[in-house]
Amino acid sequence: MWLGVLLPLLLCSSLEGQENSFTINSIQMVILPGLQVPNGNNLTLQCIVDISSTSYVTPQHWVLFYKDDVLLHNVSSTESLESYFIPQARVYNAGIYKCTVILNNKEKTTSEYEVMVKGVSNPRVILDKKEAIEGGVVEVHCSVPEEKAPVHFTIEKVELEAKNVKQKREKTSQNQNSVTLKFTVEEQDRLIYFLCQASIISGKHVETSEIIKSELVTVRESFSNPKFNIQPEGVIIEGDQLNIQCTIQVTHMAPASPEIIIQKGKAIVAHRKQTNEATYSVMAMVEHNGNYTCKVETSRISKVSSIVVNITELFSKPKLESSATSLDQGDILDLWCSIPGAPPANFTIQKGDKIVSLAQNFTTKASQWDSGAYTCVAGIGKVVKKSNMVQITVCEMLSKPRISYDSKLEVIKGQTIEVNCQSINGTPPITYYLLKTSSILQSRTISSNEPAVFRDNPTENAEYQCMADNCHSHTEMISELLPVKVIVPVNEVELSVLSKEVVESGKELVLRCSVNKASTPITYKFYREKEVKPFYEVVLNETQGFWLKTQASMEQEGQYYCTASNRANFAKNVPQSNVLAVRVFLAPWKKGLIAVVVIGVIIVILVLGARYYFQKKAKAKQMPVEMSRPAVPLLTSNNEKMLSESNTEANRPYVGYNEDIGNHAMKPINENKEPLTLDVEYTEVEVTSLEPHEGLGRRGTETVYSEIRKANPGPQQPWSQAQPDPQEHHLQNLNSNRFPEVSDADNH
Ligand SMILES: *[C@@H]1O[C@H](CO)[C@@H](O)[C@H](O)[C@H]1NC(C)=O
Ligand SMILES: *[C@@H]1O[C@H](CO)[C@@H](O)[C@H](O)[C@H]1NC(C)=O
Ligand SMILES: *[C@@H]1O[C@H](CO)[C@@H](O)[C@H](O)[C@H]1NC(C)=O
Ligand SMILES: *[C@@H]1O[C@H](CO)[C@@H](O)[C@H](O)[C@H]1NC(C)=O
Ligand SMILES: *[C@@H]1O[C@H](CO)[C@@H](O)[C@H](O)[C@H]1NC(C)=O
Ligand SMILES: *[C@@H]1O[C@H](CO)[C@@H](O)[C@H](O)[C@H]1NC(C)=O
Ligand SMILES: *[C@@H]1O[C@H](CO)[C@@H](O)[C@H](O)[C@H]1NC(C)=O
Repeated sequence: MWLGVLLPLLLCSSLEGQENSFTINSIQMVILPGLQVPNGNNLTLQCIVDISSTSYVTPQHWVLFYKDDVLLHNVSSTESLESYFIPQARVYNAGIYKCTVILNNKEKTTSEYEVMVKGVSNPRVILDKKEAIEGGVVEVHCSVPEEKAPVHFTIEKVELEAKNVKQKREKTSQNQNSVTLKFTVEEQDRLIYFLCQASIISGKHVETSEIIKSELVTVRESFSNPKFNIQPEGVIIEGDQLNIQCTIQVTHMAPASPEIIIQKGKAIVAHRKQTNEATYSVMAMVEHNGNYTCKVETSRISKVSSIVVNITELFSKPKLESSATSLDQGDILDLWCSIPGAPPANFTIQKGDKIVSLAQNFTTKASQWDSGAYTCVAGIGKVVKKSNMVQITVCEMLSKPRISYDSKLEVIKGQTIEVNCQSINGTPPITYYLLKTSSILQSRTISSNEPAVFRDNPTENAEYQCMADNCHSHTEMISELLPVKVIVPVNEVELSVLSKEVVESGKELVLRCSVNKASTPITYKFYREKEVKPFYEVVLNETQGFWLKTQASMEQEGQYYCTASNRANFAKNVPQSNVLAVRVFLAPWKKGLIAVVVIGVIIVILVLGARYYFQKKAKAKQMPVEMSRPAVPLLTSNNEKMLSESNTEANRPYVGYNEDIGNHAMKPINENKEPLTLDVEYTEVEVTSLEPHEGLGRRGTETVYSEIRKANPGPQQPWSQAQPDPQEHHLQNLNSNRFPEVSDADNH
């Protein structure tokens, strides 16, 4: 019966064991004492699991603790609560915690819990010595053994009496939780201690420790503050021997022997090493008044003290005066030296370093050499004082300035001339003024007796003058007048014809070559176009030149131009005029005359022809001998000559003019004194053939004239050579402006 009861129970339980079912209902974490743990407190992490099961016992499961996702602790458990204990939590225990439960293939994790550890455990401060000397070094070791690196340390040095922080140093130790820093002991330190604080970064926060104080360090002096000792004591008067002494006391422990320096202002007046004193020794003078400092220095320490030295003046600085500072040569120079209160003293007056007087006064007749800087030296006993400096300038009078200019030749308009002015004697600086027609043109100051050079561009004749002035009281000196002749070159030439450009044959032809306001004498040259040589050339003191042909003929027809030049025009620079066309026409009566002559000739030929014809006819009838006789030779030769002459002239139209020049242009002007009523007739004889463009130069050729004088004016000869006319020479003499009167006289 018991077996009947047990069996089903066993069966039932075994059946249940086979089909056991589990589920994790929840999992949570409890952190004790809380999420914020004061540094050093115990920290407990609890993981509480709620599992449901068909079994009567809680099934075995794993509980895992994590910090910052890293497994911290695991345990296999059948309990619903598991703990993890951290004794004395430190900053490095701060972090994000969670726990996980694993049951067979099921697992569940809590949310994340951020645990903060507040504060840093107290640092420990250890010093390498309890006693130090000024200038020495104290090593400070500060550590936080419970914490982990990196740790940031701040160490401060504090003077006990002053209670102020004298030095502060900070250092972060990356690998260790301690640091050692060195501190120098300064001269004012007596009792010192150090403060240390540690700080560690925890997550986003910085946790800091308490400030921990070290033990005290006692400081010993290496040497005392410097002390002054002034000799003589009491009132110090100029001339006394002054001793300024500076002393110190050095302890036997001193690391190095100090240097003693005595300074006045910035200047070092005395210095010593490896002794306990330094002295500045000098004869007392007012200049030695002032604030003296004594500095005692080793490599790290410097101690300073100062003293004011007051020296009583024996006598005031002498004063040098003069009658004047600027004098003319020959004036009296008076210098006198004095001391306020006029105590008995020895005086000397010096010019530069040279003594000029051993007395209080100095008087001299000033010369140029007396210019300079004067001082006076006054002495009473050993005390010697120098006065102010007096600058004296003695001025020598200027000599009359010389004026000259660079060129001996005339100046061409537009050229620059250099005018020199120089006063050989006289004290520089000298101011020169250049005057042109009495007004000042330029000025120049020269600091020597060298000449002043002025430049000018005179456009017309000018008179220059120089004025010179210097420190001398005499008024300016004036030079001689310097006349400068300026020649104006010819640059405009114009050719024109008086009366009309169309001239009646046999009437007067006058060509005028006129120029700008150029300087005389001017050379005028008249050309026919395409000819190299001028047919007429004249030099005149006028701005126009004329060429006259009293009886123009057809040969004068043509193109003309002229050139004009003076000494300012050089070969390549001779200006040419415009080209002028002249036309000559025959007078109507001449045409008539020619017609009459031609008709006459024709009639004669016809008459002769007829006569010849009839004679021939009659001869043929009479005698054959008569046929060999020449027929009227004189008449025939005359006719031929007339015709050949006109032909020749037509072929070489300009020859006449060239010969004109050859005949009379070169003659002395006044040579021709024949009365105006006289007429000259030329008979032309041809010697050789002429080249048409041959000029004056080649005169071996050609035509020779023989003069035939007649008492009465002969008839006009329209076809004859251009005739040289005495009136032409007359014109050349009078020329230009007076020309109209001449032509009037001509008309009579
Ligand atoms: C911290 O735990 C230790 C044992 O590990 C114990 O002796 C101490 O008393 C605990 N401190 C506090 C404040 O509970
Ligand atoms: C728990 O730790 C042990 C030894 O430290 C390890 O062998 C085991 O695998 C861990 N369990 C889990 C679930 O991580
Ligand atoms: C003298 O000079 C020192 C250093 O420059 C200065 O500290 C001190 O005040 C001065 N004393 C007087 C009386 O001027
Ligand atoms: C120096 O001493 C004179 C009198 O002996 C006094 O009048 C003067 O003020 C003093 N100067 C300084 C700078 O102390
Ligand atoms: C020096 O000259 C000054 C002024 O000319 C005069 O008053 C003084 O008496 C002169 N002294 C001597 C010693 O000649
Ligand atoms: C002037 O100089 C002379 C000679 O050097 C000297 O005997 C005399 O004592 C000096 N006088 C004064 C006032 O210094
Ligand atoms: C021009 O004038 C100068 C001086 O006035 C004189 O010497 C010269 O002979 C003159 N020339 C002519 C061509 O009249």
